[in-house]
Amino acid sequence: MIKTIGVLTSGGDAPGMNAAVRAVTRTAISRGIKVYGIKRGYNGLINGDMIEMTERSVSDILQKGGTCLYTARCPEFRTAEGVDKAVEKCKEVGLEGIVVIGGDGSFRGAADLSAKGILCICLPGTIDNDISCTEYTIGYDTAMNTALDMVDKIRDTAQSHDRCSVVEVMGRNAGYIAVNTGIACGATEIITKEIPYDLDDIAKKMLETRKTGKQHFIVVVAEGVGHSTEIAQVLQEKTGIEARATILGHVQRGGTPTLRDRVVASQMGHYAVELLQQGIGNRVVAMQAGKIVDFDIKEALAMKKPYDEELHMIAREIAI
Ligand code: ADP
Ligand code: F6P
Repeated sequence: MIKTIGVLTSGGDAPGMNAAVRAVTRTAISRGIKVYGIKRGYNGLINGDMIEMTERSVSDILQKGGTCLYTARCPEFRTAEGVDKAVEKCKEVGLEGIVVIGGDGSFRGAADLSAKGILCICLPGTIDNDISCTEYTIGYDTAMNTALDMVDKIRDTAQSHDRCSVVEVMGRNAGYIAVNTGIACGATEIITKEIPYDLDDIAKKMLETRKTGKQHFIVVVAEGVGHSTEIAQVLQEKTGIEARATILGHVQRGGTPTLRDRVVASQMGHYAVELLQQGIGNRVVAMQAGKIVDFDIKEALAMKKPYDEELHMIAREIAI
């Protein structure tokens, strides 16, 4: 029977991480398992920066963005010495299992730790939804709703000035936030790495739809494509329609988590402790067809995630 576990958040923060920390902490405590909150990702594990959690340590965080455990990127943990130091610290504190909440990079770290005998359970926490084994990542819904809210505001001023607004959303190298935000805000075009695009075609579409009375335009660009300012300039030159670029940036990572993020984070956090309680480690918790499931970490990292091309095409067809 496992007696002591740790929980940490790593990589970029995501709204809902707090809900996951809360679920892990309270599930563990209610099952008689001691739980440590490890600060600033793998840094806290290497340096022993951790505190024992109580039920009350996670009060009043469910509705907050960010992470109460802080997060960081920890280059030292990518070295064999760093992993050894972390394992030593686990032994010293008596940590038999760790719940790692983060993205792919954090999962790679957890695989290294698992190979050294520490039971690691990974929870997908990233706004990008770019983790292949799961159809949903904690933070995705909040980030998309924030982006949507921002684009709606940008549309007000684009409309007043008869302009084209090119809006870049986050996603690292993936277009999941872009395609959903794009269809939801009625973007004239969505530009992602996954689907070919042609600025001449976009300019042509803008001019054609202008003939039917459309006077302002939104173009959503995924972060990985980049060049939003250039795209705005080129579209302005080709159409004669004044264009502006806005990079939404880190605003998308903050804010109160949506209901969906809180629910999924709570389910996943609870599930992670159930696995550890059974002595199971080296797994990634995921959502498949709406159900919570788990995969071997290395198998999860090797999976490929499809892009919703159909959604992209629907958005394109109805934005006329
Ligand atoms: P994310 O988890 O959001 O993908 P990063 O890629 O920045 O974020 O990874 C977070 C942390 O996980 C890194 O700072 C490092 O400590 C650890 N990590 C990332 N990649 C590896 C790797 N290949 N091997 C071991 N640890 C890694
Ligand atoms: O993975 C989340 C994310 O916000 C990406 O969308 C973005 O590419 C990256 O993190 C930004 O990282 P940083 O916080 O280091 O600027």
